[in-house]
Amino acid sequence: MEAAPPAQRRKSKNKFKPAPAEPPKPAQPAQQLHRTHAADGKLQKKRRKAKKQQRAVQDVDDTVGVQADAPQQRQQQAAAAPPGGSGGGSSPFAPASWQALVSSKKGKGGGSLLAQMRARLQGGRFRWLNEALYTSDGATALAMVRKEPELMDQYHEGFREQTKGWPVQPVDQAIAWLRRRPPGITVADLGCGDAKIAATLAPCGYTVHSFDLAETAPGVVACNMAALPLGDAAVDAAVFCLSLMGTDYGLFLEEAARVLRPAGWLWIAEVQSRFVDDGGRSVLPAFEAALGALGFAVRRKDTSNSHFFVLEAQRQARSGGGKPKQRVAWPELRACQYKKR
Ligand SMILES: C[S@@+](CC[C@H](N)C(=O)[O-])C[C@H]1O[C@@H](n2cnc3c(N)ncnc32)[C@H](O)[C@@H]1O
Repeated sequence: MEAAPPAQRRKSKNKFKPAPAEPPKPAQPAQQLHRTHAADGKLQKKRRKAKKQQRAVQDVDDTVGVQADAPQQRQQQAAAAPPGGSGGGSSPFAPASWQALVSSKKGKGGGSLLAQMRARLQGGRFRWLNEALYTSDGATALAMVRKEPELMDQYHEGFREQTKGWPVQPVDQAIAWLRRRPPGITVADLGCGDAKIAATLAPCGYTVHSFDLAETAPGVVACNMAALPLGDAAVDAAVFCLSLMGTDYGLFLEEAARVLRPAGWLWIAEVQSRFVDDGGRSVLPAFEAALGALGFAVRRKDTSNSHFFVLEAQRQARSGGGKPKQRVAWPELRACQYKKR
């Protein structure tokens, strides 16, 4: 390597020049000096603590600020790196500093800050988990939730919060649709959340099998929808209410086809914006074609709602059930991003 020209060497030397010596301070009495140092120390400690708290809030926000337009690329990435970094069995969302902060007593005027931080943290947890579920396959999602089942309570709390302003709740539409089916039918609620369908319709004589990643309500069976603990042709209707979340969502539908009896019904509600490709074109026709290849005939489609569409399909009587004979080409769907609060 060539030696640097002298001018450059001088420049780099100057960079490390010690700061000019401070003018001498007037002497202080020993006691006063001690008090000043103690006060300085306290101030610095306070500043360090505030910085640490600020960093914790930032961590949560940064993690949920990831773009969700390329779900396949980031598959499993979100699930692998929860905010706060877990690994040790404690909640991945509550680093020690947060736990201490949240459980600490109210300080002077600290109540509103705490409430604000709680809301931000809750929103951050929800969005992180939402992203993790949309960018993982079903098996990965189940493994993640099995480690910390209480994550799903937090998820459902956040989900309810995010959708409470929607003009109609899709789960209520599913219930209304099921009420129009012959009474007493057997239903599989796939990705049931807090199992509202079972809670509403079981008392009316319906048999509802509720499945989700965790048992978030009484009667819910925890599993991955790609492998349902049901026999072939066991149900009359299968419902996916905003639950085609995994990157392998096609396997969920193929499993639904297996457990549906011939001429059984499939009801799907999904967020409209998920069904658009990178060029802005709708992938709904490709999705319907894939359903056709699986042996379903689409009977009704309602895209009038600004938030989600509803699709009703019927398993054709002649379709054999069981696993599809050939690979079905499911279009890639976008992750759904709920708004930041
Ligand atoms: C957006 S929530 C909707 C919950 C409920 N259907 C409703 O509308 O109130 C979607 C649900 O699907 C569940 N889910 C996602 N992937 C799943 C999988 N592979 N197996 C089982 N459940 C899954 C999630 O845990 C979540 O509870």
